[in-house]
Formats: sequence, C-alpha cells, structure tokens
Amino acid sequence: MAAALRALHAQLGIPESYGQDRGLSLQPEATQLVGVGLDISNREQKLSANTAVAWEALRTAAAADGVVLQLVSGFRSIEYQTSILRRKLLKGIPIHEILRSSAAPGYSEHHTGRAIDVTTPGSDPLEEQFERTPAYTWLLREAVKFGFSMSYPPGNLHGVVSEPWHWLHSGCGITASMNTQRKDSATDDTATEAISNRG
Ligand code: DAL
Ligand code: ZN
Repeated sequence: MAAALRALHAQLGIPESYGQDRGLSLQPEATQLVGVGLDISNREQKLSANTAVAWEALRTAAAADGVVLQLVSGFRSIEYQTSILRRKLLKGIPIHEILRSSAAPGYSEHHTGRAIDVTTPGSDPLEEQFERTPAYTWLLREAVKFGFSMSYPPGNLHGVVSEPWHWLHSGCGITASMNTQRKDSATDDTATEAISNRG
C-alpha cells in the first residue's frame, strides 16, 4: 500500500491488517469516466465507459419489464470515500462499526467506476428493505446477463453488512459480459445524510 494511504488509514484508525482480515483488495481509482446523468439526489454521477453502457442496458431492460431502477451512487474517489468516513467519525461512530458499511479508502469498489448503488421507487435508498422489492428480485435474475454481480450478499466474508443495492460490473463490454459472472479484483455521496451513511 502506498505510504500516503497507509498514513491516512493510521489517521482514521483503520488497522494495518484491514485488507487481509477482510479479504478485500485495493481498488484502482478510475481516471476515465463518463457522465451517466443525475442520481436520485440530483447529483451528476459518473461510471467507467463499459459500466455506463451496461447500466443503461440494465435500466432499459428493467423498464421494459415494468421495473424502475434508479442510481444512488456511482464512482467515488478515495478522497470522497475518506470524507464519508470522517463524517461518520465526527458523529461518534466507532471505526470498526463504520467499516461494516463503508469500505476503507482505497478499498471501495466505487473507486473503479464499475460499482453502482441502485434503488427503486417506494424503497428507502441503501436500506435492506430493497431486498423485498420486485426490483431486487428482477436484478437477482437478470443482472448477471449485463455483467453485474452483487458484491456483499448476506453473510459475506468481508465483514460488510448485506448490501442488496450494491452491484459490480465485470468491466467487460456489454456483449462480452452477457453470460459471465466474473468479478475482477478491482471492487458511496449524497445530498442527504441518511444516504451518505451507507452504500
Ligand atoms: N459500502 C461499500 C462497502 C463501500 O463503501 O464501498
Ligand atoms: Zn455501493
């Protein structure tokens, strides 16, 4: 790990063994991103080019089946992820608790531009209730066809709470990704406080 990131982790109280303990890998910060429009909080979101195409295809296919998918979060820089953790620390939440719902800076799949947090009307964003929606059932069946897989299912070994809203794109082009569930090594912001606490 780069010295600057190591120092940042030490400052935030993140154990040196975090990645190893959690079975998580450092995630490269995307440098090439494309705009994908506004999220549910009216913020412009960005994704990697392939993921942007896959997200649009996923959203369109869902709509054709009567399912509305909305974007909550896409790309997040290491700096932004750090601000999420600092905000939670300022609220008095212990770091070990924070790390159950937010990845340590450098380890969030959102850095890659290939992770999306999604919701659907009628479900509070970034809440487990999403798994009781038709949108979630649809994603479980269809997302793989578009190269997306769920990173943090219930009981995952990364010590992260169940995140039925968080899906990672394999990074392949849309055609190549149609029949794959591959998840590369490479693995959240908000206008509202509630949303920013998770993702
Ligand atoms: N909520 C996931 C773990 C992240 O912060 O990337
Ligand atoms: Zn997420």
